[in-house]
Amino acid sequence: MFQKIHLNGSDVNVLVKGQGEPVLLVHGFPLDHTMWEFQIEDLSQDYCVIAPDLRGFGQSSKTNGTVTMKAFSDDLAELLIKLEIRDPVHVCGLSMGGYIAFQFWMDHKEQLKSLILCDTRAAADSEDAQELRYATADRVEKEGSGFLAGLMVGKLFSPVTQKQNPELITRIQETIRETHPESIAAASRGMAARTDFTSLLNQIEQPVLTIVGIDDTITSSQEMQTIATEIPHATFIVIPDAGHMAPLENPELVNQAIRQFLAAH
Ligand code: MLT
Repeated sequence: MFQKIHLNGSDVNVLVKGQGEPVLLVHGFPLDHTMWEFQIEDLSQDYCVIAPDLRGFGQSSKTNGTVTMKAFSDDLAELLIKLEIRDPVHVCGLSMGGYIAFQFWMDHKEQLKSLILCDTRAAADSEDAQELRYATADRVEKEGSGFLAGLMVGKLFSPVTQKQNPELITRIQETIRETHPESIAAASRGMAARTDFTSLLNQIEQPVLTIVGIDDTITSSQEMQTIATEIPHATFIVIPDAGHMAPLENPELVNQAIRQFLAAH
């Protein structure tokens, strides 16, 4: 089920599970494919779920410098070809995975069937946000990934999850701590340089599902609703008892929304 695929000079670890229409799950920053554990388990009963660790993350080979959203998206397009997935795929991305999904829409439309955008943004970073990304990249390279693990978990989860599911918080912290600092820095710089898709949303012809946790403090539900309004064929769903990591925090409702969307498209 796990495979190592050699792509553009890097070994990418990918889980392929189940049979049916292909669904590609693209994880957020600085995580790995395990953030989709509940979607992999559920959707693989009826779909072919493809859940890679992006270049630099999880069990994929480490990287450095800058990895742009375009580089990640090109990796995914190549990965699908190497896996001999010939049908267009449903691309489901969370946060940074959503930035990559927008880029995939732009560059690899022929491989795309629909988009599922979870807790993500279409806008590029402001100058202040870019500065912060570069500073974070430098600090992670100097100090290691530990400080980011502490900093991020407070922002990733809803108050309910923080209170009721400390094991999940600890697990995600471990994932961040174990991620290679230079790979984190490279993705951070890549996000700072990402394209602004806000003016292109009305050109997305594929069906789109937008999902956001009600307590997401990184991407507000208002911002995601605006994205859904701009896209011609988009559905907007708010997930209760969830923050930025809605698929992990309230998997039942997220899976239900994804299943309904996939069945209709
Ligand atoms: C993520 O979850 O991927 C990050 O919060 C994205 C970001 O920092 O913009």
